Amino acid sequence: MTRPRYRTVGTALIFLSVAQLSTGLKCICHICTNKTCETGADGACWNSVMLIDGKEEAVKSCLTPLEMKGQVFCYSSRNVSKRNCCFTDFCNNETLHLYPAGRIQMEPGWGRLELAAVVLVPICLLCAGVLLVICAAHGRHCTHRRIRKHDVEEPLDDQSLMAPHKSLKDLIFDMSTSGSGSGLPLLVQRTIARTIILQETIGKGRFGEVWRGKWRGEDVAVKIFSSRDERSWFREAEIYQTILLRHENILGFIAADNKDNGSWTQLWLVSEYHEHGSLYDYLNRHTVSVEAMLILALSIASGLAHLHMEIVGTQGKPAIAHRDLKSKNILVKRNGTAAIADLGLAVKHDPTTNTVDIPANHRVGTKRYMAPEILDDSINMSNFELIKRADMYSLGLVFWELTRRCSVRGVYEDYQMPYYDIVPSDPSIEDMRKVVCDQRLRPNIPNQWQSCEALRVMGKIMRECWYTNSAARLTALRVKKTVSQVANVKDMKE
Ligand SMILES: Nc1ncnc2c1ncn2[C@@H]1O[C@H](COP(=O)(O)OP(=O)(O)O)[C@@H](O)[C@H]1O
Ligand SMILES: [Mg+2]
Repeated sequence: MTRPRYRTVGTALIFLSVAQLSTGLKCICHICTNKTCETGADGACWNSVMLIDGKEEAVKSCLTPLEMKGQVFCYSSRNVSKRNCCFTDFCNNETLHLYPAGRIQMEPGWGRLELAAVVLVPICLLCAGVLLVICAAHGRHCTHRRIRKHDVEEPLDDQSLMAPHKSLKDLIFDMSTSGSGSGLPLLVQRTIARTIILQETIGKGRFGEVWRGKWRGEDVAVKIFSSRDERSWFREAEIYQTILLRHENILGFIAADNKDNGSWTQLWLVSEYHEHGSLYDYLNRHTVSVEAMLILALSIASGLAHLHMEIVGTQGKPAIAHRDLKSKNILVKRNGTAAIADLGLAVKHDPTTNTVDIPANHRVGTKRYMAPEILDDSINMSNFELIKRADMYSLGLVFWELTRRCSVRGVYEDYQMPYYDIVPSDPSIEDMRKVVCDQRLRPNIPNQWQSCEALRVMGKIMRECWYTNSAARLTALRVKKTVSQVANVKDMKE
């Protein structure tokens, strides 16, 4: 209790002393009326900072020669930690501090509280720092463990991968603009697949069932393979993820997932869903106008032309042959265009070695749609051009199915499969070979097609796709151009 009072008295004494100034040097003076003072001869400007009740307080004034002689004010006292005497006009203008950061200088006689603060604060700061480092390291470890867990366990947390508001369109848009080229990241694919709710079966094919499912309220198609067809699942997923394959007339692939539930593996391929189903289903149910027929024909040819086309470059696309083109493997979209689907038997061309990417065993595909050179096994499978030409023969058959259903002035044919009138319902290779190779028969082109320009051109395209000599057949690009001319589509960019 005595110390503050003593300090105040000491300070007052200093103030009183420095107030009695004589002329000489001009100095800053806090306690003078006009804030300046003058020293007598041999006087000095005085600058000090004191710790008063825990706060720094600066005092500036003049020192008399007497005070200077004693030099008492130019030394430290108990309360004044820094003081300075100087000898030019206003040299005490600068502000002194006890410590640069305003820290309290330790002086004898400090209170226990101050001492404790000085010792404890750095120790606490040091502890906090150590704790922070430990927490940061632990946090990283936990995140790492969480990521590793996602790799091996399920269910996956899609929130960490995809914003909840994102639609399939957004995801596909992100994917096609991200530059990654081929497909969504595998974890995203898996996350999508595992959050689909299956609704109903919509189709059956070679390898299992196709379902309609819901993902975030949107319809998707899910092709489920049995575990013994793992190679087919893998192959189809691989083909769909070929760089630059994505095209409006090729079924939009979304995700592949293999989910092991302990006793068996479920293999899923997720794609865009098309409510009209296959072209086969559609033509069985509907006739089409000339315009609708041309739109379907043009989009099928565009899809096949894209599939067949090689795009050169580091991020290029290899030429791909479908090998199972038929009306059941083409889907009808809501906007009346078509998308080529079921790429499970497709093969890619490797231009550097001029080979096919997998051993192309000869007779795959659907017998009814097989080209003559496949039926009689004369095709040279190492020549990729020839594999594409076999697709063109099948395309001609699909066009025949489509054009029959075209209604002109109310006249149209019933739906029929190619060769419906000359082969049994599930024809063998031998049945087909006899008809297509030996007898050289082809589906009938009705006479009335000659009276409608669009149908006439379609008939001509078919014949030119059905040549026994595959080298003479039209290419997909040629068919696309011819159909587009008929359809008078003005914005074709070739
Ligand atoms: N994305 C889809 N939207 C609507 N229906 C589809 C879709 N994918 C397949 N389907 C239906 O399922 C059938 C079989 O599909 P597909 O891919 O050809 O399987 P598979 O390889 O077993 O032949 C098709 O003919 C079609 O009727
Ligand atoms: Mg199929």
